[in-house]
Amino acid sequence: MAVLDRLKALYPTISVGTLTADLMNLGEELALLEAAGVGIVHIDVMDGCFCPMLTVGPPYIKGLRTPLLKDVHLMVKEPLDSLGEYVAAGADMITVHVEAAVHIHRVLQSLGTMENQHYPGSKIVRGLALGPATPLDWLAAPLLAEVEVISLLGVDPGWSGQIMAPGTLPRLRRVKEIIAESGRQILTAVDGGVTRSNIAEVAAAGADLIVTGSAVFDGKAADRNAMEMLAAVRGAAPGPVGVA
Ligand code: DX5
Ligand code: ZN
Repeated sequence: MAVLDRLKALYPTISVGTLTADLMNLGEELALLEAAGVGIVHIDVMDGCFCPMLTVGPPYIKGLRTPLLKDVHLMVKEPLDSLGEYVAAGADMITVHVEAAVHIHRVLQSLGTMENQHYPGSKIVRGLALGPATPLDWLAAPLLAEVEVISLLGVDPGWSGQIMAPGTLPRLRRVKEIIAESGRQILTAVDGGVTRSNIAEVAAAGADLIVTGSAVFDGKAADRNAMEMLAAVRGAAPGPVGVA
């Protein structure tokens, strides 16, 4: 089954960020996610240029031996030349930032030609991310033709554990309208600032993929946290598409 079809079979669902996972026991942490019914692990790649923090790269992604889908979030300036390394490392979904490249259309087109190495025969699922202050006008038709997921960051890229920007859900509702107007089948994601107290609201607003990190890997019971977050998502039927 193509990775996009696997994603579509899973959503609405959570993609769990590993920035606050116990790196000394990462295999066990990923196994806890699997046991909890999580299907996707979110890997935040930060280059210290596009955003202040520096995290991991292709060797880390390749070293994650897991059946979970690898959702790689590139917070990387001008990612065009390094896309192949992330694909070779086994990324299933690669999200790039509209703010990170002078020619983001070419980045997405290039990604669209690449073969999934984790699930051969499948394409790479392409995500396009916008920071909380980036105008939605950037979602021009030619870009919508080159993405499978639009991801709205609830926080400025760089750290986990931040508070979600108040305008995130109205932006999500507007993005869903833009997608509907385009007539394309594009999934939506919200990434950053999602906790147990707001995840049902995010799901009700219609997010298909909800990225959550520190609310799951809080140093206590990642599996119970993940199960509670998944239950909240699945219990929250999307609300009406509201005004922006
Ligand atoms: C922020 C990252 C997010 C963040 C999520 O730059 O893209 O994925 O790590 O972590 P929480 O859920 O703790 O906000
Ligand atoms: Zn992220």
